[in-house]
Formats: sequence, structure tokens, C-alpha cells
Amino acid sequence: MNYKANLNRYEKMIYNRCGRSGLQLPAISLGLWHNFGGVDIFENGKDIIFSAFDAGITHFDLANNYGPPAGSAEENFGRILSSHLKPYRDELIISSKAGYYMWPGPYGDWGSRKYIISSCDQSLKRMQLEYVDIFYSHRPDPNTPLEETMMALDQLVRKGKALYVGLSNYSADQTRQAAEILKDLGTPCLIHQPRYSMFDRWVENGLLDTIGELGIGSIAFSPLEQGLLTDKYLKGIPENSRAAKPTGFLKPEQITPDKLEKVRKLNDIAQNRGQSLAQMAIAWLLKDKRVTSVLVGASSVKQLENNLQTLNNLQFQNDELNTISNILHS
Ligand SMILES: NC(=O)c1ccc[n+]([C@@H]2O[C@H](COP(=O)([O-])OP(=O)(O)OC[C@H]3O[C@@H](n4cnc5c(N)ncnc54)[C@H](OP(=O)(O)O)[C@@H]3O)[C@@H](O)[C@H]2O)c1
Repeated sequence: MNYKANLNRYEKMIYNRCGRSGLQLPAISLGLWHNFGGVDIFENGKDIIFSAFDAGITHFDLANNYGPPAGSAEENFGRILSSHLKPYRDELIISSKAGYYMWPGPYGDWGSRKYIISSCDQSLKRMQLEYVDIFYSHRPDPNTPLEETMMALDQLVRKGKALYVGLSNYSADQTRQAAEILKDLGTPCLIHQPRYSMFDRWVENGLLDTIGELGIGSIAFSPLEQGLLTDKYLKGIPENSRAAKPTGFLKPEQITPDKLEKVRKLNDIAQNRGQSLAQMAIAWLLKDKRVTSVLVGASSVKQLENNLQTLNNLQFQNDELNTISNILHS
């Protein structure tokens, strides 16, 4: 059956301007790191993508190595795109990245021009696309001159293979240097993709100030700490959860009694606000205007719908923020 997008898809989503660029991104975007690979159920992934687009999520985030196996998330996304979403291509912001191990030998990892450009070509082939909207350097490479990596990103834009470029996992200083190089090349840095959640606040020590000053947008990844910042682990590790799967990046040993104690207290606050903890964790990130979008993952349509309801309550009272801060520092 051919998919037809919901006619009301733009009614509820909030769109935020990405830094000082012309591009707006949905306040909630969908990431395809887990749940969309060759080991996952294709139809489930397809339903999640359709539900996302029907709810105004225009931005889908991928990387060369998403799967497993590596590359399969892009392949699956490409299948869904070419058979169902082609008519909507101009309504979609699709991103990919290169920076982590992808193929053997010295040219399948890190940040050389050779790797970045061949990897982008491979991603385009897997997704059956002529261009991606955003291409990222997935991580800084200590052994490649920053100029080389940035020139490779600039070249992708000049060749029409990417419309914008971004950085992921770069420190505040590295971001400043990279942004300066990109600016000189004439391809401004659009966005930074850092890990950011209530449990991981490293961006508050300089990165957010830097991107705010430079007019670069940001998209926070693993906003729910891979599921830990929801109520799902409060009664043990459920079957089929990320922590229970051999292919999941969240390991049972990361779900410590100390973390669960905090999750329990945060969950009480969320309930008092009439929200799920997942919703409160997303809203908490969106209160900072330098955060353009929150990049969630979901293993079901139900989870995605739950996360989308965040938009019904984005406001925090000062006393709620203080209590949350005390719990996080306890
Ligand atoms: N740039 C980078 O280096 C980098 C690194 C990591 C991720 N990312 C990007 O960020 C995206 C999101 O990362 P993430 O998947 O770790 O994000 P996340 O939103 O922190 O975690 C998603 C997981 O949380 C659980 N979940 C989501 N909503 C829920 C709800 N309402 N109730 C209960 N559980 C819920 C699901 O786990 P279950 O599977 O257990 O149901 C889901 O798979 C990735 O897809 C990727 O695009 C980027």
C-alpha cells in the first residue's frame, strides 16, 4: 500500500531556527542508530518513520555505521524513502555522518579527506539519494589536520552531495577552530550534535556558550540516556529493551542503583507535572534556546507518540528546576 502523509502534519510540531542559518528543524527529530538495522523488524521501523513524518518530524538522522550490520539503517531508510517518501523529499532533512570505523584498512575510519568523501558516496548509494541535507564529521580526528577534514566537508557541499555540514562530538575549542576554518572556506558550520541529557551535561561547560556565540545550532543526542531517563528500567530490565539486547549500546551495568534512585525521584516530579519522565527529560533540554532540536530514538510508534506529547508542556517552574538540579547533583 502506498503511504500518504497526514495532511495535518505541520499543525502541532514546533520548528526552531538552527543557529543563525536559514534552516528550521523540528523541536523533536528522529535518530536511526538503533531499531532500524538489518537485525530489526523492517515493518516496525517503517511504521515509526511514517508516524514521525505524520507528526511533523521532518528530520531523520543517520550515519554510515548505523545498523547493525553497519550500513543497514541507511539501506533500510533508502528502501522506505524510494518506495514511499520520494514525493516528500523536499520536506525532509536527512543527515548522515562519517567518523567511526566503517571498513577495513587505513581509509575506513576517522577524518581523512579520503574517508569522508568515499563514505559520503557510499551513504548516498545506500540511501538512494542524490544529496544529504546535512553531512557531519562524526568525531574529531587527533591525527588528521582539522583543515583536511573541514575541506572535505566543504567539498561535499560544493559537489552538491550535502547542503549543510555539521560537527559531532567536538569539544568547545575544536568547534571554534573548525567553525573558523569552515567560515573561511565559505561553508558555515550549521549545527553541532553533542550527547546531552539530564545525566550528561558536559555541553554546559563551554560548548553551548561557544555555539551560541558563533550562531551554530545544536541537536542533542541520547536525550533519554538510551532509555534510562524513562520509567522503563524502574522494575528491572524488560525483555526487548536496549539493555537486554546483545546489539544494544546500553549495557545492564550502566543501570546502577544510584542512577535508578535519581530516575525514581525524577519520575515523581514528571508525574506531578502530568508528564512521563521521557517527556520531562526532552522538555528540560528544549528550555535552552541554543538547543535547536532533541534527537530521540524509539523502538515503537507508542514510544514516539509519547515523546511527541512533550510539546504539550514545555514550561518549568523555578522550584521544579531547582528540585531537578538537586536530584542530579545528589
Ligand atoms: N553523534 C553521535 O555520536 C551519536 C551517538 C548516539 C546517538 N546519536 C543519534 O541520536 C539518536 C538518538 O539516540 P538514542 O537512541 O540513544 O536516544 P534516546 O532517546 O536517549 O534513547 C532511545 C531509546 O529509549 C527508549 N525510549 C524512547 N522513548 C521512550 C519512551 N517514551 N518510553 C520508554 N522508553 C523509551 C527506547 O529504548 P528501547 O529500545 O529499550 O525500547 C529507545 O530506543 C540516534 O538514533 C542517533 O541518530 C548520535
